[in-house]
This record gives sequence, C-alpha cells and structure tokens, in this order.
Amino acid sequence: MRKKIVAGNWKMNTSFKEAITLIEEIKKSTIPNGIELIVNPPFVYCQPLVQLLKSSTIKLGAQNCSEHQSGAFTGEVAAAMLQSIGVTYVIIGHSERRSFFNEPDETIAKKINQAIHSELCPIFCCGEQLSEREANNHFEIVKTQLENGLFHLSETDFKKVIIAYEPVWAIGTGITATSDQAQEMHQFIRTLVSKHYTHEIADNCSILYGGSCNASNAKELFSKPDVDGGLIGGASLKAADFIAIAHSF
Ligand code: 13P
Repeated sequence: MRKKIVAGNWKMNTSFKEAITLIEEIKKSTIPNGIELIVNPPFVYCQPLVQLLKSSTIKLGAQNCSEHQSGAFTGEVAAAMLQSIGVTYVIIGHSERRSFFNEPDETIAKKINQAIHSELCPIFCCGEQLSEREANNHFEIVKTQLENGLFHLSETDFKKVIIAYEPVWAIGTGITATSDQAQEMHQFIRTLVSKHYTHEIADNCSILYGGSCNASNAKELFSKPDVDGGLIGGASLKAADFIAIAHSF
C-alpha cells in the first residue's frame, strides 16, 4: 500500500534559531502512526537538523539539488553531498524553480537522475499555471512535465519517486484547488503512471497535493482516494498547523 506523506517545504524562510525551535516543536508533537513526516528546510540548516532528528521518525529533505554530479559549479549543492549528511528526500521541479530560475524539463530530468544516483528520494513537482487551466490545457501540461521530467526512469527507479501536484495558481495564494479538482488531476496522473509503468507501480505511488493546503482544508483534500498527502508551504512554518495537517487523514 502506498505511503501517506506530509512534507513541509519551508522555502527561503526562518532564521537558524527559528528553524531549531520549529523542529523542536514538531519533534515534541504526536505524529500519527503510519504517516511519513518530512521537513525540507533551506540547505544551510540541513546538516544540523539531521542531527536533531536522529532519534526521531521525521525525515529530512532538501528543496533542490544540482543537475551535475560534482565539479566547477559555484554555489551549487550536489545530491551526493545531501545524501552524505543524512538527507533522504529532495524536492525537484518546484514551480518556483521552474519559473524564477528558468528550469526546463530537461534540467529537472537531470536533477532526478542525480537524486536517484545518490539514493535520495525525489519529490517531483508538477502543475499548471492559471492561464493553462483557463485554456483547459492543464492535463496536457502536467502530462508533458511528467513525460519529460520523470518517465525516462526505469521501473526500479520510478518506484523511489513521490509526485506532488501543485497547481501554480494555488501556491501561496490562499486559493486551494477544490478536492474534486485535486482528485481529478491525481487520478489522471496515476493513470498515466499506470500506462507508462504498471498498474501495481501506479497503485503504490504516493501523489501529494500542494497549494494553500492548511489545517482547515487538509481533511477534505486527503479524503479523496488519489490524494496521498500534502506538500505544504506556508502552513508548515507553524508546528501546530503542520502537525494538525498530519492528523488530517
Ligand atoms: P503554500 O502551501 O504556501 O501554498 O505552498 C505550497 C508549495 O509550494 C509547497 O511546495
């Protein structure tokens, strides 16, 4: 059976002190059984937070990694470096990377390869812009993102991937996709996975929803059969909200 997952994407937020306080508060909370809880802090906090989470079931993820393995790439962080300090997940293809840092599908595919090669679990993000949904192109956009960024993986490697559907118009806007809109897209994604791989692989693939998911709407979103959890931005910065979301299954 596929995993239920709640992952917090802290983006470029928190001072180091705030990051430690947030982790301590999350650690003190009761995490429901069978839920994988992941925090994705900024790079610089990964190593100390891995240490703080050593005795905990909470997993640590990064928000990005380089498309290259190593070498003269000033300012970049390699997947292998993250793995070597105890990071287990990495977000790849977030819409903010796609739009603000001009990351095309080809770069995202290379990052996915680096993550897999370094034994990190990729959290692959996809999702359409508002104009694309208004033009009724949202299914085609997400299909292309998956085909170009992810579906080159072998069956064995694909099994390590988590998919996050994040409609861009819902990110940080307070406008959440309705649970029916989320379900419709998640089901579409699962069907694509089933066609490219196998029914069993699709059935075991966790597909998270992201975009203004919070403690008030998580239960409704997670009640849908193809929504296996959330990738949470703003609401992951408050321990009580983040934990409440983890209790929303
Ligand atoms: P918000 O939850 O702040 O809308 O952000 C979602 C997101 O981008 C998670 O990766």
